[in-house]
Amino acid sequence: MSNHNPPFKNEVLVYSEIAAKGNIFDLYGGDASYGVLLLRKFPDLHYWYFDLDQSALDTATERLLEFGQKAHIKRCNARDLDKRISEEGLREIDVAIYDPGLRLGHVENPERGFLVKWHGPLDGRYDQRQQLTIADVLNHESVDVLTDIFTTVEMPFPRRLAEAIVNRRKSGSISTSRELTEIVSKAIPFKARRKKVSLEVIAMLALRIYVNDELGALAEAVRKGFSALRPGGRLLTISYHSGEARIYKEFAKKYDERYAAENERKLRVLTKKALKPSTEEIGDNPLIRSSQFRVYEKLN
Ligand SMILES: C[S@@+](CC[C@H](N)C(=O)[O-])C[C@H]1O[C@@H](n2cnc3c(N)ncnc32)[C@H](O)[C@@H]1O
Repeated sequence: MSNHNPPFKNEVLVYSEIAAKGNIFDLYGGDASYGVLLLRKFPDLHYWYFDLDQSALDTATERLLEFGQKAHIKRCNARDLDKRISEEGLREIDVAIYDPGLRLGHVENPERGFLVKWHGPLDGRYDQRQQLTIADVLNHESVDVLTDIFTTVEMPFPRRLAEAIVNRRKSGSISTSRELTEIVSKAIPFKARRKKVSLEVIAMLALRIYVNDELGALAEAVRKGFSALRPGGRLLTISYHSGEARIYKEFAKKYDERYAAENERKLRVLTKKALKPSTEEIGDNPLIRSSQFRVYEKLN
């Protein structure tokens, strides 16, 4: 999440020092805030910015203008990273940054349909060329698929909610987040409502993750990004929820020099414990409060 104010700015600069005269790619580039910071600190760096959302690309193009040929801005779905890398002839990548999810531009625009609070359309796509929206999922998916979607984010009573959605469809299609809110509040017993984050918000998170296949794309992107790094290169990862964290941790565990079979030892964990944002960073941008930062180094 970003409002030009992403988490772990200092950490990103420190762990990126090895790329001062080399190449970094920022796969979920968003507003290119890391790019601006990095290029100011390391003027000899080549910063490769990728994102699949046109509005993010437009913002990044404007913000990176001052860095001329050092900033390379490309539209790319994270899961197609390997193709993009070979098209660009990108080699010797020192650092890869992963800051997935949505940006403030998504959250603030009711038309993009990412938040329940706008009572607007149910969209939730990063790539607006894509067909599938949250409304499509709510209006067409089966009880089983909907149950799986809500189970991914540990929603209480996922099947009960899925059944309520399918029942509600009998009286007309579901098209606004206000309708979704009503279904959630009727379907889930009051005692199961969490205090910190509302269930409507969790339901939207689940639907957004599904519509964009965020976890599938991230898992693919981690594998492809890591294999593109030079030996000694670093993967800088940020997660906002347990689904994302699990993908990094499972990948790392598979290749960690401490646990993997001898021929599978490919990485070293540089952050022994996941780092959390500082109180000051959270104060500046409360949306990043759940974020975690992990860094992995590719072995020689
Ligand atoms: C949390 S924001 C990144 C913020 C960025 N670090 C900054 O400082 O501005 C995540 C970005 O990832 C993009 N995104 C989401 N899924 C993607 C995917 N599969 N491939 C490429 N970009 C994606 C979104 O459009 C969004 O702009």
